[in-house]
Amino acid sequence: MRYAIKRISNTFVGEVEGIDLSEDLDKTVVNTIRAALLEYKVLVFRGQNLSNKEHVEFSNKFGPPEYHSVTQYTLPEFPEIIVFSNRGDQGTKPIANGGNYWHSDMSYKATPPLGSILYALEVPPEGGDTKFCDMVAAYENLSTDFKQKINGLYAIHSYLPRFIASRKADNEFQKNRFDLSESQKSEFTEVTHPIVRTHPENNSKALFVNEGFTIGIRGMVEKESKEILTNLFKSTTKERFIYTHQWAARDVVFWDNRTTMHKACGYDLKYSRRMQRTTIQGDVPI
Ligand code: SIN
Repeated sequence: MRYAIKRISNTFVGEVEGIDLSEDLDKTVVNTIRAALLEYKVLVFRGQNLSNKEHVEFSNKFGPPEYHSVTQYTLPEFPEIIVFSNRGDQGTKPIANGGNYWHSDMSYKATPPLGSILYALEVPPEGGDTKFCDMVAAYENLSTDFKQKINGLYAIHSYLPRFIASRKADNEFQKNRFDLSESQKSEFTEVTHPIVRTHPENNSKALFVNEGFTIGIRGMVEKESKEILTNLFKSTTKERFIYTHQWAARDVVFWDNRTTMHKACGYDLKYSRRMQRTTIQGDVPI
């Protein structure tokens, strides 16, 4: 198989050409993709054609699936796939503003996922981009004093406050309301993770906080913790660390959740936007 990877952003993001993700890729190709993910943090594959089964099979080559607990958004026949569709699709509930805040997927889990693979099925003619932030570059850019200040601190991550706030602001959700069951809610406990995490595969250091799910700093009063987090959120969202992906239908983007965060952008809801994501199990942040 002949393939090529070119960097398409300042510090990260590789566009991969010449790999058909629907094929049963052999170990060499899988290892190449894995190495490229470590190097580029976000990989873009354009013009793919994946069935649900092929999407899951490709994802499984990088690790077991991380299932999302909000099963109202996952495919009944492929629970590994979460659907972000403003019309609802294949038996899932509609969601118009899924992920439209900076976050690393499921950072509210004790063992947050390694990576995610998002496949675009239908995209609006304008808007609906996804922004990615290079959290290694953002960390490296902090002053030595600030690095020292956050060294050894742990942040608290939580899902429920975000779920409630986001759904309140989501018209499609409001028209098709559902409540989480008690058992679903019980899966979302607060967890703490180091603010600076070390990548288990290449030892790079990355910031691991996000405005979506990080609600405080362990052992710190609210005022002080808010000051540090606001400062970090500001430092991580500087334009030079960001890549904006303008989707075309059938694009696949594969990102490392340990070194990046992302955010879905708004669009005119008269258009359909339909995305499907698999998520790969990760490791406890250190
Ligand atoms: C996500 O947060 O994983 C979905 C992002 C998007 O739909 O652009």
